[in-house]
Amino acid sequence: MLKNTKNYKKNTLKVFIKTFGCQMNEYDSERILYLLASEGYRRTFNVEESDIIVFNTCSVRKKPENKLYGHIGRLKKLKKLNPQLLICVGGCTAQNFKEKILKDLPYVDIVFGTHNISELPELIKKRRLLSSSICSVRNNGFDYDLKKAKRTTKFKAYVPIIIGCNNFCSYCIVPFVRGKEISIPSKSIIKNIKNLVSDEVAEVTLLGQNVNSYGKDLDKDILFSELLEKISYIKGLKRLRFLTSHPKDFYKDIVHVIKERDNVANHIHLPLQSGSDKILKLMNRKYTSNKYLNIVNFIREEIPECSITTDIIIGFPGEERWDFLKTLNLVKKVRFSKAFTFIYSPRKGTKAYRMVDNIPIEEKKEWFKELVEVQNKISYEENKRMIGNKLKVLVGGKSKKNDGMLEGRLENNTIVNFKGSKKIIGSFKFVEIIEARSFYLIGNLCS
Ligand code: SAH
Ligand code: SF4
Ligand code: F3S
Repeated sequence: MLKNTKNYKKNTLKVFIKTFGCQMNEYDSERILYLLASEGYRRTFNVEESDIIVFNTCSVRKKPENKLYGHIGRLKKLKKLNPQLLICVGGCTAQNFKEKILKDLPYVDIVFGTHNISELPELIKKRRLLSSSICSVRNNGFDYDLKKAKRTTKFKAYVPIIIGCNNFCSYCIVPFVRGKEISIPSKSIIKNIKNLVSDEVAEVTLLGQNVNSYGKDLDKDILFSELLEKISYIKGLKRLRFLTSHPKDFYKDIVHVIKERDNVANHIHLPLQSGSDKILKLMNRKYTSNKYLNIVNFIREEIPECSITTDIIIGFPGEERWDFLKTLNLVKKVRFSKAFTFIYSPRKGTKAYRMVDNIPIEEKKEWFKELVEVQNKISYEENKRMIGNKLKVLVGGKSKKNDGMLEGRLENNTIVNFKGSKKIIGSFKFVEIIEARSFYLIGNLCS
């Protein structure tokens, strides 16, 4: 039952947060939780007992965007029961559609943009004094303070190294909602990671829409491969990952660092988007399918065990069956460990939004199904090749797929389920792989 009368003493307040979208948004939610914790708010996973609900939204496709409206609609009831409940909407949809949110969702109290996160405590105080909704959305800016994030996992941390995006792929809303690229000075990144390691963090994932752009906007700083290498030398850092690399400026030095440094994980997420050069050009991706294949071949020659994962968009405006088959062929040639596949979703304000798109959605869905079937078979076959090996996992927690099991991640980012005591969560263990599925492996813990 919801308590109608609540004592608004600082230490009794509770925040419920729901995050949509990418790892950058997950990191932003950790910042929001940090800021609210300093104001006395404790996190709750029970929305009914919360005093503040924060939605950290995503706008990359229609589907995650719609989720916001679905969730908020259901909250009207809670708001009636507890008039002092505050509903806040942040993230990329807030950045993009502030007017629409304020107009369509009258029970939203605060709308804050992707560059305004640090203002949230102030906005909350203001809103408690006012009778109407408030909105703070800046177009660009940098309000990151790396020290100020409340990790959701004790032994893993996200560390942004570059925010924003300058690439303007023609389908993508991200450059509009995240602003231009801003690299964080390497000294501050390294200092932050040293602190994280001394606070028992075993695995760090460096974040950026395109990590390869790192440092290009800073006069006197290092580039990505040098940063990666420097970080890998931080004493006590057991595993280092990074997301995402853009094929247009993926350079060989990155592969060398992965090869030379044991703690840099053998995994590269390299979004392909399409296997058709015509479509890649329309997408403004600035590489060809051949260039993509050359990168893959280089990675495979240097580090045969390195996994390569990707993102693919199906049904981009102008894409015909012929183009789709080129994507399918490339997928068969490359044999990705895993592919995140999406049906093209028109985003207002992007260049592709105005392009002629005359392939019916039913046909796009057929292509999509065809691609997913091919990729699932490849993932399964690639996973099967690991059976019989004893491999190291970082034990992440309880399995999401199998009750009573734990799950861990291999260096190549594949998930392994196995039986074991909860006490080993957060440590590195060896598991013998005994079974494969398309999306994960099953193993036995080695003694
Ligand atoms: N910065 C990353 C990814 C950002 S968004 C990169 O460049 O790789 C994650 C993925 O969502 C993209 O790689 C793309 O495959 C997909 N995506 C982005 N905009 C989309 C749209 N309008 N419709 C469908 N998928 C989209
Ligand atoms: Fe979007 Fe392209 Fe930037 Fe990735 S690189 S965030 S797909 S514009
Ligand atoms: Fe991420 Fe979605 Fe924004 S993918 S950057 S949360 S639009």
